[in-house]
Amino acid sequence: MSILVVGMICYDVVNTCERLPYEDEEMRCVGQREQQGGNAANSSYVLGLLNASCEFYGAIGKGPRTEFVLKRLDRVGVAHHHCVCYANKTIPNSNIMLSLATGSRTTVHYRDKGFPELTFNDFKQLDLSPYKWIHFETRGDESDLLKMVQRIIEYNLSQDRKITISLEFEKYRETVLEFMPLADVLLVGKLFASHLGYKTADEAVTQLRNRAKENALIFCAWGELGASASGPDGEVLHVDAYTPGPVIDTLGAGDTFNAAVIHSLSRGDTWKDAIKFACHVAGTKCCSPGYDQVKSFASH
Ligand code: FRU
Repeated sequence: MSILVVGMICYDVVNTCERLPYEDEEMRCVGQREQQGGNAANSSYVLGLLNASCEFYGAIGKGPRTEFVLKRLDRVGVAHHHCVCYANKTIPNSNIMLSLATGSRTTVHYRDKGFPELTFNDFKQLDLSPYKWIHFETRGDESDLLKMVQRIIEYNLSQDRKITISLEFEKYRETVLEFMPLADVLLVGKLFASHLGYKTADEAVTQLRNRAKENALIFCAWGELGASASGPDGEVLHVDAYTPGPVIDTLGAGDTFNAAVIHSLSRGDTWKDAIKFACHVAGTKCCSPGYDQVKSFASH
């Protein structure tokens, strides 16, 4: 049984800079690399590094950038054979500046207006039986996303072993609030929570319980201030951020946190262990370039 991660894949060019440039300045960066991007693809990559059985599912294009990012998924054993391929499209890309001075990551993202999102028509072709867990980014066409999530809820009604549904809430749009009662596990980003007026991760996971379904697990990461989780009975646990060295790469830290929560819960850990594990994994990621250091947390 594997974990299906549904959402975006793109091509990231990551420039490591001593500091952010000023407008109109010409500056050399101190390092550059290309990697897969997109929250779902990043989380899939991390799940692969952790040795979880994982499949990425999203819309892809054709061409060298697509081949490059799919090869990276292959390298960590993440399947992607159900992806919907648009032969005449180039996948979205991001140009990212990592500032060594502050640890920030500044992103300029390009997505061709005609680049399609995954649709419900695509999703309904999937046989759901191989999956124990399906994770979605709340993005794109919400009416299609809603139908996808509802399809799993309906499928679960006839199953003894139910598929766990997790949803990521990162970019705030009012329309995604209706998804909150549908998830077994809510992964809420700091920006999203701040948008709702919450000042801390504790406050976010406590207040969001009113919007979540009964017994849902709610996780919220808050950058250098750590993360909080709320268990099925509303108990809240805060865990400080783990920083084993200077923070040099926060790109995809939230995606890494989410992947680590999913991996931990899906192998049977408690929610308290899951948040501790996720803070450890995400903190380690932030103190080394890229994602590969996460491999040291792999399950054997
Ligand atoms: C990080 C990330 C990058 C990507 C951007 C897309 O969370 O997924 O990999 O370029 O966000 O919004």
